[in-house]
Amino acid sequence: MTPIKIAVVDGDGISPAIIREGKKILDVVARYTSFQFEYLDAPAGGEVYKQVGDSLPRKSLELMEQSDAILFGAVGLPDLPQGVAERAILGIRQHFDQFVNLRPIKLFNSARDTCPLKDRFIGDGIDMIICRENSEGLYAKIGGILRTDEVATNLMVYTKKGIDRIIHHAFTIARNTPGFTKVTSVDKANILACSQLWRSRFHEIAKKYADIPTEDFYVDAFCQWLIRKPYKCDVVVTGNLFGDIISDEAAYLLGSLGMAPGGNINPDGISMYEPIHGSAPDIAGKGIANPIGTILAVKLMLAETFKEMDVAAMIEQAVEETLDEGRTVDIQKEGLPTLSTGEMGNLIAEKLGKLLKQ
Ligand code: IPM
Ligand code: MG
Repeated sequence: MTPIKIAVVDGDGISPAIIREGKKILDVVARYTSFQFEYLDAPAGGEVYKQVGDSLPRKSLELMEQSDAILFGAVGLPDLPQGVAERAILGIRQHFDQFVNLRPIKLFNSARDTCPLKDRFIGDGIDMIICRENSEGLYAKIGGILRTDEVATNLMVYTKKGIDRIIHHAFTIARNTPGFTKVTSVDKANILACSQLWRSRFHEIAKKYADIPTEDFYVDAFCQWLIRKPYKCDVVVTGNLFGDIISDEAAYLLGSLGMAPGGNINPDGISMYEPIHGSAPDIAGKGIANPIGTILAVKLMLAETFKEMDVAAMIEQAVEETLDEGRTVDIQKEGLPTLSTGEMGNLIAEKLGKLLKQ
């Protein structure tokens, strides 16, 4: 099999350490299956900005264009001009029109103790997919930005095309994912014109999926719902900024931002997979970062881009089993050994190897 090309963004802070663990998982997949991976080193973010004055160098973008998928760590350093590193990630999303930002939030059975709501009723557990619109809203590159010391503006833009494609995507996930039935739309239609267009498109499109139940929430009420009854959510579809915010809230239901993966997806193009946490420069080099977000991002890549559902399920199972045996410090549990980033990755890789060998 010709090798699959993965453009890898090592990134800043803890990012190289967690990316190493993600590659470890891909290497195990390559060892036991017909998959072969070739890694293309495509630097982006703060470190490369310091070297070449650009947080998304043309050469890196060209390597990504030649790749089958992008594995991205995290970017950002404290001593950079405001937003420079972050623009790398937005640049990639825009360049490849990765209009879907998929953020699965799943509480593993073996890690229910990490959920801050564990002492309350959490039903049959937490298992949802946040489907965040990833190309428009306040993140759209059209419209001017005014920034003075007296006044600042940003322009929120939504188009029918942009809304329709993400809502269709959400319904498709609900239809194709076992255990998922409902689609919840989150907006602020009591205030925002953009949300009013969003809501009317949501209801129009829902008619085409008449068998799938739907509900609407205003974003403020949804933020509350998310900690009251998170087990009631399946597919949550929302705009760019609201998706950014609620996905951090939802990820903390897993006890640590380090547990949650994200996929920036263009269903007909090149997609980018990343953990949803940041570069955490304060803990860089300490060997304590949780690699699970990145490892689950690799899982998402195998499922979404390469349609390797069996291998993806095995990665998830390997994580599930590992959480019973040891934890990184952010999710540590009494009675279980506290593992370093590398040890956690090794254990998951070892378990995955066994599952793939069977
Ligand atoms: C995310 C991040 C980014 C965003 C930042 C780093 C630009 O918060 O992926 O959730 O706002 O989308
Ligand atoms: Mg965010």
